[in-house]
Amino acid sequence: MINSLDMQDIAQRAVCPPGQHQDFRKKLDEYGFVVLQPGGADEPSLDDIMSELGEPVEYGFGTKLDLQPKEGSDNLQFTTGGMPLHNDGILNAGPEVRYIGMYCVTAPEVGGETLIASNAAFFAQAPADLLDVMRGITIEYRNRISGYYRDRPEGDHPRVAPIQDDPVTGKPRLVIGLTDRDDPTRTHDATVVGRTAEESAELLDRIKAVLHQPSVLYAHKWRVGEVVIQDNRQVVHGRSAFPGQPRKLVRLSVA
Ligand SMILES: [Fe+2]
Repeated sequence: MINSLDMQDIAQRAVCPPGQHQDFRKKLDEYGFVVLQPGGADEPSLDDIMSELGEPVEYGFGTKLDLQPKEGSDNLQFTTGGMPLHNDGILNAGPEVRYIGMYCVTAPEVGGETLIASNAAFFAQAPADLLDVMRGITIEYRNRISGYYRDRPEGDHPRVAPIQDDPVTGKPRLVIGLTDRDDPTRTHDATVVGRTAEESAELLDRIKAVLHQPSVLYAHKWRVGEVVIQDNRQVVHGRSAFPGQPRKLVRLSVA
């Protein structure tokens, strides 16, 4: 168990320095993510590391993804915009994403941090009345991009409870996909079922505000050669904008 429920503390412990990657799995289970710093002898590749953790998850584009801006893309993922906090897999058919691995090829000098919020810290910091409300709602998601996710057989607009008891970790977890309602490149829409648009927006903004508290959110500034692995059941993630900067990460997720 994590003794500290402060994300800045957790983030310091989640670092595996060069040549000291051997206990990364223990840290990953304990803290929900790890940062593997480069520079040790005989470092395994992203593929090697992830194949130890599970089977690659299939998306519309395949399994491995180059995350970098694409000229004129209407998918937020491939712009220099900020990505709101979310779990992976809400809109994708197939096995649930367990671990997300990312390798840094090109790091921006300013911005482009990967944002990671800890479930454990969220539950420790969120007001009790907010948690109560969250336990009684479902959120409907509507995909807005094509060719990225694999479509679900049932068509549609998944409805997902934002707090779920996780059968794998035995802990409560957040299952959520925040979105910027005003961004024309947003990947999806999210609305609380049975609430007006205003009520829904207000509730989602309250959740976002807690997730963005410094005690809950860690912003990882990338260095070339680093690998970050996240447990999709223990953390949610997003990114800061990086206008005018280069940035390339390679992502491989496993179930
Ligand atoms: Fe993601």
